[in-house]
Amino acid sequence: MSDTGKSFYLTTPIYYVNDAPHIGHAYTTVAGDLLTRWHRQRGESVWFLTGTDEHGQKVMRTAEANNTAPQQWCDRLVEQEWKPVWKHLEIANDDFIRTTEARHTKRVQKFLQGLMEQGYIYEGKYEGPYCVGCEEFKLPGDLIEGNCKIHSKPVEMLSETNWFFKLSEFAAPLLEHYKKNPESCQPESARNEVISFLEGGVSDLSVSRSTFDWGVRVPWDEKQVVYVWFDALLNYATAVGLTDDPSSDGGKFFEKTWPADVHLVGKDILRFHAVIWPAMLMAAKLALPKKVFAHGWLLVGGEKMSKSKLTGIAPSDITDHFGVDAFRYYFMRAIPFGSDGSFSWEDMAARYTSELANDFGNLASRLAAMVEKYCDGILPNPAKDEELASALSKTVESADKAIVALDFQGGINAIMDFCKVVNGYVTIQQPWVVAKDESKKSELDAILYNTAESLRALAILLHPVMPLSTSKLWSYLGAESSLGPISSQKIADVAKWGQLKGGSKIIKGDILFPRLPDLES
Ligand code: ME8
Ligand code: MG
Repeated sequence: MSDTGKSFYLTTPIYYVNDAPHIGHAYTTVAGDLLTRWHRQRGESVWFLTGTDEHGQKVMRTAEANNTAPQQWCDRLVEQEWKPVWKHLEIANDDFIRTTEARHTKRVQKFLQGLMEQGYIYEGKYEGPYCVGCEEFKLPGDLIEGNCKIHSKPVEMLSETNWFFKLSEFAAPLLEHYKKNPESCQPESARNEVISFLEGGVSDLSVSRSTFDWGVRVPWDEKQVVYVWFDALLNYATAVGLTDDPSSDGGKFFEKTWPADVHLVGKDILRFHAVIWPAMLMAAKLALPKKVFAHGWLLVGGEKMSKSKLTGIAPSDITDHFGVDAFRYYFMRAIPFGSDGSFSWEDMAARYTSELANDFGNLASRLAAMVEKYCDGILPNPAKDEELASALSKTVESADKAIVALDFQGGINAIMDFCKVVNGYVTIQQPWVVAKDESKKSELDAILYNTAESLRALAILLHPVMPLSTSKLWSYLGAESSLGPISSQKIADVAKWGQLKGGSKIIKGDILFPRLPDLES
């Protein structure tokens, strides 16, 4: 896509700042980072947004419980917990939006005012259950013995005069939308859930609250704040210039970015994203997101890992032991995106050792060791093994197809299968035997070059998954000076054989995936 065209725009949920991030939040954010890095390497212009959801009772009560003013609480969590974790995990987001920022709150007010003027907002009375954990007005079917199904806690009964949004008017158009555009809500199980929910009929939605004040003021009613989900969902559009004059910078940016290509969410918040959000956009006559993808849950003891149930595992508990790259690799490789999965220390250790240390890391170390031993560390001139080259072409094609479709497991498997093919090639060619025969020098050179060239391709293809180790490998292969930075290598060019320059210095650097320390130590 050219630079003047529309950007590939991807968002994660904006997370509540009632606590520090756990691996469930990291799961979504890493998936978004993998996908946006892949699209950047496809040469597309990309915009990747994440951020924090700071208003509402849930955050307000947490701040109170910690004897802190809500704004101060949010500032502290964002700066000391959320942003540092994303940095640690090598998340390359282009923007980070906080719902307490003026750029957001002003645009929320303007948007709501617009819906009011269009006749989509009216005053009414809400009487019914509310779960502060979900920040959601609940339906009787959402409860088990008076408890929220998700939080296993009693709901609160509200009775408030609020402002309502005519959500019910959009059930029929939304049904039509999902039937016509099945790709816009994925996976299929998620779409079916949304369709059956819509078929059951939808009530109007209270979009303001009057019993507390931690939120965006309703512009025409001082006593009310905007319902936190109405406020939060708008982040995806306010962050890129929603409601700005089309001729202004914000307006132009909106034009280039909207609609979002992918909203990545967990299945817990599917309805907000696939019912309320597109209805808000329809009311404002804005384009709908191209895809909402609801992935599964990381489970602990069969239940969703959560902050409120104190079952969250901090990403650093895992990265301290396995490193950041292995963390990113493991969750994307082990759990089919869209299904639930659980983290297992044993499974992760097993994959680390067999897939990362043995299959990938060892291949890189062996190549460097052989080039050092047989060629004084200098890469021989280009050669081409047709079978390897054609296996690589197929790999790139299937990995690209899978990853663009958010099948991260399928994409990584395709790449790691190529890694196995290369290992097989080295085993069969036996360069250590060929090296004993002086007359076979050119054969030896070809084996080493072909292996190095395969590693070039693996480094590029795995870069979106494991940015740290692949950058190291890139420099060990001497590729930086002849080919430029790894992140600017294009997926479409990966399979062009013969890109590493003969005569480059190959470095035997650090082991990419060192042996794991004993779990006991
Ligand atoms: O819902 N497994 O924020 P939140 C997988 N502020 N993913 C998980 C997970 C788990 N166990 N736990 C959390 C909110 N996630 C709102 C969103 S968006 C306009 C507003 C991930 O802090 C997953 O993406 O509760 C889930 O949807 C999100 O975190 C919920 O984060
Ligand atoms: Mg939640």
